[in-house]
Amino acid sequence: MRAMRIHRYGDASEIREEDVPRPVPGPGEVLVRVEATSFNPSDLGLRRGLLRDVFPIDLPVTLGGEVAGTVVETGERVIGRAFGAAAEYVAVPARSLVAAPTAVPLAHAAVLPIAGVTAWQAVFEHAKITAGRRVLINGATGAVGQIAVQLARHAGAHVIAPARRPGADLSEVVDQVGAPVDAILHLAPVAAGGVVSLLRPGGVLVSITERVPVPGVHFVTRDDAGDLGGLVALVDAGVVQLDVLTRPLADLALVHREAEAGLLRGKTVLVIRGR
Ligand SMILES: NC(=O)c1ccc[n+]([C@@H]2O[C@H](COP(=O)([O-])OP(=O)(O)OC[C@H]3O[C@@H](n4cnc5c(N)ncnc54)[C@H](OP(=O)(O)O)[C@@H]3O)[C@@H](O)[C@H]2O)c1
Repeated sequence: MRAMRIHRYGDASEIREEDVPRPVPGPGEVLVRVEATSFNPSDLGLRRGLLRDVFPIDLPVTLGGEVAGTVVETGERVIGRAFGAAAEYVAVPARSLVAAPTAVPLAHAAVLPIAGVTAWQAVFEHAKITAGRRVLINGATGAVGQIAVQLARHAGAHVIAPARRPGADLSEVVDQVGAPVDAILHLAPVAAGGVVSLLRPGGVLVSITERVPVPGVHFVTRDDAGDLGGLVALVDAGVVQLDVLTRPLADLALVHREAEAGLLRGKTVLVIRGR
């Protein structure tokens, strides 16, 4: 099968399309025929070797951290966290998979296991957003941010999603927001800076990027099929809409280069084509 792999850490030229054997599922795993995987900013750190202390891997390795596809044995359409999904097939722990939404193309649902579940856990688990809260979301245009905005609005919150001018920093936001907020979701890869001053006393600051001072919360997304299933239900109900750009998997190295150059816009899904 075709797979996008790296044999050593380095720049995007290390990403190679190779012909490798299909993975053989281990105990508790199923083989999934991949429809799509998606690009996440952390893929850059993994490729460069920056995550090797927190996430040790044996090289060579197939890239891709989440999947939308079909279980080979049963034909079920599924999504889930899946390491090595930038390939035609991937073996995935069955407990990580849930039924894919039916309201959107299967490939588009490849954004839900990481960006979607991160947004879910930020909004509901860490910030505990409820009706009537004033919530500031930094990075609202990003993959996580777009879904977080929809989830917070669905919870009945008043969402403030400040616009960012190219080159401007977050301290500008302070002028746009005015009154203090009950919660800040910091979903942008920069320092939260002066924005933190907008939090009311006792409010909650949740970050998925920089570590923030206690009592703020920084978290790394947990693989949670329950949360993923909750998101699928909201996608099928039309509450959460997915805005994605699809590219062929063969473009993966190019996508990495565009992301590093700051040229990638929107959430990129990589579709397996031309089997
Ligand atoms: N902790 C975790 O478990 C976890 C999970 C998922 C993601 N993450 C991290 O969270 C971040 C967001 O992920 P994502 O997938 O949503 O990324 P993304 O799609 O690239 O979105 C990034 C967001 O940050 C904004 N941004 C970028 N540079 C900025 C700056 N200098 N000032 C203000 N805003 C800026 C972008 O705004 P523009 O649209 O204006 O560029 C966009 O809204 C990434 O750093 C990612 O690695 C962490």
